Amino acid sequence: MTILVTGATGFIGSHFCVQALQQGLDVLLLDNLENSSLKVLDAIEQVTGVKPNFIEADLRDKSQLTQIFSVNKIDSVVHFAGYKAVGESATNPLMYYRNNVAGSINLLEVMKEQAVHKLVFSSSATVYGEPVFNPYTEEHRKLPFNPYGQTKSMMEDMMADLCKSDSQFSMVALRYFNPIGAHPSGKLGEDPKGIPNNLMPYITKVAVGELAELGVFGDDYDTVDGTGVRDYIHVMDLAEGHVKAIEYLNNHKGYEAINLGAGHGYSVLQLVKAFEDVNQVKIPYVIKPRREGDLAAYWADATKAEKLLGWTTQLTINDMVRDSWAWQSRNPKGYN
Ligand code: NAD
Ligand code: UFG
Repeated sequence: MTILVTGATGFIGSHFCVQALQQGLDVLLLDNLENSSLKVLDAIEQVTGVKPNFIEADLRDKSQLTQIFSVNKIDSVVHFAGYKAVGESATNPLMYYRNNVAGSINLLEVMKEQAVHKLVFSSSATVYGEPVFNPYTEEHRKLPFNPYGQTKSMMEDMMADLCKSDSQFSMVALRYFNPIGAHPSGKLGEDPKGIPNNLMPYITKVAVGELAELGVFGDDYDTVDGTGVRDYIHVMDLAEGHVKAIEYLNNHKGYEAINLGAGHGYSVLQLVKAFEDVNQVKIPYVIKPRREGDLAAYWADATKAEKLLGWTTQLTINDMVRDSWAWQSRNPKGYN
């Protein structure tokens, strides 16, 4: 039975495909390569010994999707494809709604038409918005404050409504906290185009000498050292959470939203120090003003994932910084 993986050559999708192939799952990889490279397929093959089946396709083209579902025996879908830059979503919201919402509607419609009922979706902790309490449980109110977060929240609502309308569906939205790290082989990792927005790829680009110094966005938050606190999760732990979610879907109907996080937070400076200590590389940094739209601190209550999926994180912050650096130092230009 085939699992269709959308966004399969992206950062998280590629790590999931490795994990799935190594556990003997049959995956069909789909991506439009807008934010990833065909070279990812070679890396997956090198790590797993399996040549992945790949289709270049765009979710915004429904006829293409229909064709793919008609010729393949698809049993379930893991849906990673989409845009993810918070700032860009504020300057170009329609592009985000078109891809993340309209593209996802195409997928849901084709799934319904072709009687494919199981879906795992990449949601985000960003759906919660300003924390009313910490850690966030799944019952925390949803109030995303940027278009990117809105697209995730809207997709979650569509999934919940679809499951209510038809009891054959089983769907899980996984709300990721902050994925970092890379495959321990150093052959797969995060490869953002241009100057990274996110903290970890910025740190590794400073470490490799491509960027001069890290800007730390604010040191006057009410946190342990004044810098922002997040729940960092190793991408391999995250990938395994998806394997567990597929197992869960095989035995349960209906809709669930589930946090995937480690359950504790680290500040920006704690992450920098862990990186320096583990890798013996200095990261010069300067304190900059707060970044607009940033929250001071949040982390996950991950007990629902443990209860429903039998999943908890296994890897530590030291594993995350070691593997991020192994990837970047061996591939200073990413996949190029
Ligand atoms: P990524 O950009 O590396 O991967 C997304 C992939 O989707 C890319 O390979 C891109 O080419 C592809 N894609 C985009 N639009 C497409 C379309 N219309 N048709 C086909 N392919 C398309 O991002 P990622 O970090 O791997 O994130 C995967 C998912 O997880 C995204 O939905 C993202 O919003 C979500 N997420 C990511 C984070 C994070 O910090 N990385 C946090 C929370 C949620
Ligand atoms: N930060 C810096 N300097 C940088 C980049 C980030 O100090 O150059 C700080 C931020 O201010 C924040 C922390 O590092 O305190 C983490 O920032 P990231 O940009 O790495 O991540 P965010 O928490 O802002 O957001 C990420 C993804 C979102 C996702 C969210 C889920 O970008 O898509 O995690 O928790 F929704």
